[in-house]
Parts: sequence; structure tokens; C-alpha cells
Amino acid sequence: MRMKVDVLLGLQWGDEGKGKVVDVLTPKYDIIARFQGGPNAGHTLEFNEIKHVLHNIPSGIFRDDQINIIGNGVVIDPIIFKREIESIYKLKINLDKRLLISKKAHLILPSHRILDAASEASKGKTKIGSTLKGIGPTYMDKTGRNGLRVGDILSKDFKQKYLSLTEKHKRLLSMYDFKYKLEEYEEGWFEGIETIKKFLIIDSEHYINREMANGKSILAEGAQGTLLDIDFGSYPYVTSSNTICAGACTGLGVAPNRIGEVFGIFKAYCTRVGSGPFPTELHDSTGETLRKKGNEFGSTTGRPRRCGWLDLPALKYSVMLNGVTALIMTKADVLSGFDTIKVCSGYKTKDGIIDYFPHDITCVEESIYTELPGWSKNLTHVNDFKDFPSELTNYIKFIEKELGVPVTIVSVGPHRNQTIEH
Ligand code: GDP
Ligand code: IMO
Ligand code: MG
Repeated sequence: MRMKVDVLLGLQWGDEGKGKVVDVLTPKYDIIARFQGGPNAGHTLEFNEIKHVLHNIPSGIFRDDQINIIGNGVVIDPIIFKREIESIYKLKINLDKRLLISKKAHLILPSHRILDAASEASKGKTKIGSTLKGIGPTYMDKTGRNGLRVGDILSKDFKQKYLSLTEKHKRLLSMYDFKYKLEEYEEGWFEGIETIKKFLIIDSEHYINREMANGKSILAEGAQGTLLDIDFGSYPYVTSSNTICAGACTGLGVAPNRIGEVFGIFKAYCTRVGSGPFPTELHDSTGETLRKKGNEFGSTTGRPRRCGWLDLPALKYSVMLNGVTALIMTKADVLSGFDTIKVCSGYKTKDGIIDYFPHDITCVEESIYTELPGWSKNLTHVNDFKDFPSELTNYIKFIEKELGVPVTIVSVGPHRNQTIEH
């Protein structure tokens, strides 16, 4: 039977818990494939006594039997890739023939990282708050048709290609008043290239479609979140790839009619890291409480995450763009202990109240909230929906009704086991 590709992706500004849930769902699949983004992602997994953060590598890597693919839509930094591989080997995980890399995935060069830093520094107050991993410049070279791809590593003139792209970057860097040391990165970068060569470098679009035809099940793992999508997010405060479901088609070579379930993952509240508008952001002690209880510090950069209440107009927009078929709510445990929980149902703008995510989200003057009763029960040991406090059940039902999609999984802690399926 020809199978479909299920997709799991973030509905907010990233860090919804994608890594954790992909790891939980992995045993149901044969193949896990990342379709976009790069090491700007930090996907955290916790199992046994191990806590591990993945950047380039799909979150199915810690299960024994699954194939993991880095798809063509991904951008890879060889330095970070090598470091990730080494730390996975330390955990005695066998990667042999289990990690495949698309020939069409683009490479992040040391000079891309420097360009990212120079661009951010030049923007001053209007900086994007990039993770400084070189994501923007690498995707710019991809669409500008200058990029280096993983497949190029195998060509004889790879070094020459590297040098000519780097020369071009040096010319671009001369426009900025920015000091840099390229040589610092280069040795490690070429070592990382040797590490990449040890893995199977494949035409992943052919592989994926062939395996689908053979009846293999595939889960596509998104990075970042819908509100960081290059087309539909809070532009320009976004990342440089299509984080939405359509990105799984272009980022893996899967036809739209071959997409199956779309799992939309969201936190029971909302966070954002980096700059940009955030209508439900809390600048008060409630925001501080969410940050502390939720341990809201970036997995990639360690930066404190900005925290706020759930934003329904934004979530509705994300559900629409992705065709979400099932919702996954994470961090429900973090909301225990609030007397009331607020949910944003609309935005006040100078032209009146709107209930949709607008073109320019900075037009929002104030968020309009619906208040729901909170609960005090500690959820971290709960393992069945029926043991939820009635207020949490009520909260979930409210969200399901507003979004028109069922919540099928609730996560109540960072550990693999703290995941409840309906
Ligand atoms: P991702 O980028 O979407 O994979 O998410 P991150 O790993 O960057 O951030 C999610 C953080 O929340 C990680 O530290 C996870 O270990 C943690 N986490 C995931 N699910 C839950 C949950 O249900 N409750 C709590 N308290 N923490 C969670
Ligand atoms: P995961 O996959 C949260 C944010 C950055 C910045 C903007 C652009 O872990 O959810 P970039 O480095 O892409 O040029 O940064 O996007 N950002 C993320 N925020 N989670 C992520 O990934 C992110 N990846 C990028 O903070 O605001
Ligand atoms: Mg993350």
C-alpha cells in the first residue's frame, strides 16, 4: 500500500516541544525526516536520565530501528553537525546507515555565519534577534542560486567552489564595518565535511517516494514554527524558510496529495525568542512565573524566552495555513497553579477589533482576553485524560471548539513518558 507522509510542525514561534513529541511518536514510523531550517533549531529530548538537544539531526535518532533523513530543505552547518554526531556517539547510539543526508541540502559556510552577525550588528535596534547560525545568508544564497550543496562535497572542484563563494562573501562583508576571523572556523568546517562524507548522501526525494510506495510510514519533522514562516510569519521578524506544511512538500520532494496527518503542536501558553511583535506578551510577574515554571530559556542560544498567554487568532491562522488534522498541546503542567487563565480571542487596533492575524501585527494595540478558571493539581504524574482536573478539560474543549480540531496528545512534562495520548 502506498503510504502518506505525516507532518509534525509548530503552530507558534517555535520551541513548542517538537523534538520531544517526535521522539514519542517515532516508534509508529519507519522514517523520520527533517524538511527545513538548520541549526537555528534546538529540539530537546529527555529519556531515561538523558537530556539531549538536537540541531540538524532529526528527533527520531534515539530509537533503534528508524531511518532519519536530513531533507533537501534543510541547511547544514558541518561544524555543528560534527559536534552533534560526536555527542550522539558518546551515548552509544548506532548511527550506521540510519542517518541519510540529501544531496540537495545546502551548506552553511563559515562566512554565512559571519554575514549573519554583520547584518544583525548593522541593524542595531531593528535586528531580527537571529540565532546567528548563518540561516538567513545561506537561504539567500540558495534562492540567489549561489549556494553550495551537500552533493557538491563529492565533486572534484569542491574546494574551488568553496573558495569562490567565500571570496564573494568577503566582498559583501567589506560593505559592513565588521571585524571577523574566518580562519578560526575553516579548519573545523572542513573536518565537519569529512564527517558528513561518512554518512549516506542520497537523492532523498527518490528515496522517500520509493519507500512510501513500498509501504513505509514517514513522519516529517518541522523546525521553528508557523509564525516564523518566511511568507506568513511576523515578517521581517521571521526565519528564512517555509516552516508550514507546504515546506514539507518542497523540503522533501513529497507531492501535496501525499501528505497525511498534520500534527500541529502548541504550548498551552505562548513564547517567543528574538525580536518582533508578540501581542500576548506579559511583561509582569505572570510572565516571569511562566518563564520560571516552564524553564523558558532558548535550547540553542540560552536566551530567556518572552512569555505570554495563548493567542487564538494566531493559532487559527496556523491551523488554516497547515491544514492541521490533530492538535498536540504541550506544557500543560506549567499552567497548574494559576487562579485564572487568559486566552486571547481578538486584537484591538486603531481601526477597531479584529479576530484574525493581520499583515502587520504591530497594528495590535491591545489583546482582548477570555478568562477561564485555572487549576491547582500537579499534572506531572497524570497519565490519562480522564484524570485531568475539570478546568483543564474545559480549557482543552474551549481550544478544540475555537480551532475546530481535536487535541489528541497532551504533554505534561519534558520526559518521554510524560505524554498522554487520547
Ligand atoms: P522544540 O524546539 O519545539 O523541539 O522545543 P524545545 O526543545 O526548544 O523547547 C521545549 C522545552 O520544553 C524543552 O526544554 C523540553 O524539554 C520542554 N518540554 C517539552 N514538553 C514539555 C512539557 O509538556 N512540560 C514541560 N514542563 N516541559 C516540556
Ligand atoms: P525550534 O526548531 C524559536 C527565531 C530566532 C529569531 C528568528 C530568526 O527550536 O523551534 P534565524 O536564526 O532563523 O535567522 O532567527 O527566528 N528562531 C527560533 N525561535 N525556536 C526556533 O527553532 C527558532 N529558530 C529561529 O530567535 O527571532
Ligand atoms: Mg527549540
